[in-house]
Amino acid sequence: MQRRTFAMSAALLTGAAALAVTTTPASAQAAKVKVGFMLPYTGTYAALGNAIENGFRLYVDEQGGKLGGREIEYVKVDDESEPSKATDNVNKLIKRDNVDVLVGTVHSGVATAMAKAAKDSNTLLIVPNGGADAITGPMCGVNIFRSSFSNWQPAYAMGEVAAKKGAKKAVTITWNYAAGTESTNGFKESFEKGGGTVVKALNLPFPGVEFQALLTEIAATRPDVVYAFFAGGGAVKFVKDYAAAGLNRSIPLYGPGFLTDGTLDAQGDAAQGMYTTLHYADGLNTPRDNAFRLAYAKTYKLQPDVYAVQGYDAAQMLAIGLKATGGDVSKKPEFAAAIEKAKIDSPRGTFTISRAHNPVQDIYLRKVVGKENKLDGIAIKGLSDPARGCRS
Ligand code: PHB
Repeated sequence: MQRRTFAMSAALLTGAAALAVTTTPASAQAAKVKVGFMLPYTGTYAALGNAIENGFRLYVDEQGGKLGGREIEYVKVDDESEPSKATDNVNKLIKRDNVDVLVGTVHSGVATAMAKAAKDSNTLLIVPNGGADAITGPMCGVNIFRSSFSNWQPAYAMGEVAAKKGAKKAVTITWNYAAGTESTNGFKESFEKGGGTVVKALNLPFPGVEFQALLTEIAATRPDVVYAFFAGGGAVKFVKDYAAAGLNRSIPLYGPGFLTDGTLDAQGDAAQGMYTTLHYADGLNTPRDNAFRLAYAKTYKLQPDVYAVQGYDAAQMLAIGLKATGGDVSKKPEFAAAIEKAKIDSPRGTFTISRAHNPVQDIYLRKVVGKENKLDGIAIKGLSDPARGCRS
């Protein structure tokens, strides 16, 4: 009896499956595209990871949950901004979950490990933050894209701004890892080209926040300006400590916009009047940005920041690639060609993607006024990373 019931339901199932095959249109059957988010959901960069995921999902939801005719599904891993765990973490997404595309991450060291794994397995990767110059330099490749920036870009712009404002002597301060080193190098390159000198380069281990001894050293050195790369929770603490030490009254604190993006509620008075450079700003007041900001605020009850924009644009880039390939992620050259010739309609302003797959974009000068990184002008128009070492 039991056996017969089993046999009958098996026959019914086979019949149902056969029916589905013959009556369902091919497009509706296409498997979902599996997106693997590898982002920091804990630690000093947690807010950044969440903003990126929010931005990405917002764009997909605006398209009715489908890109290039394929439904999108998500799996996620918390990378903790921990480079020593990065290879294991990315391999969970590539080998265990079989994702079609990797989206991540914030921390340059972890993003570099992701790029290596993506290259080795020929998996699509869209980096929605991590600025490591190497990803769109020596590691550039047909399957690797960035929707954000290279560490060099906003840094180079700030060095130029500082030199034009007449500063001669600068001290740099940052965490001792790729993003900090590359950011302070980018600043030094243009600042010294403009006639200034970096007299001291200070650093501490990531994600440390023991700034006191370094602030004492800055006070003793008396530079004209300080250039700092910090982000997330560390940026909040640094900007507050800098002001608490009274340094903001005599030595302007400059940085890439990460120093004050998504952090102003927590930094309060300490950040007022600061100048930073970035590929996004408050008060752009374009129809595109206004619509994005309204939709983001409605959905998440939060104001968007640069990280949300980078997540949103990572989804836009995926959409462009999937549309061109009919949703077939194995067609890497076609996927890449479509993105290379696209004009991406970003809330930051329209941008294009270089041959090395990094955004070519305007870098804004912003000034902190109240709770906003207010647009103060364009520091450099259409800035392209030099992509040193990329041979593609
Ligand atoms: C990086 O590690 O590349 C990084 C992290 C946080 C930022 C910017 C760059 O805000």
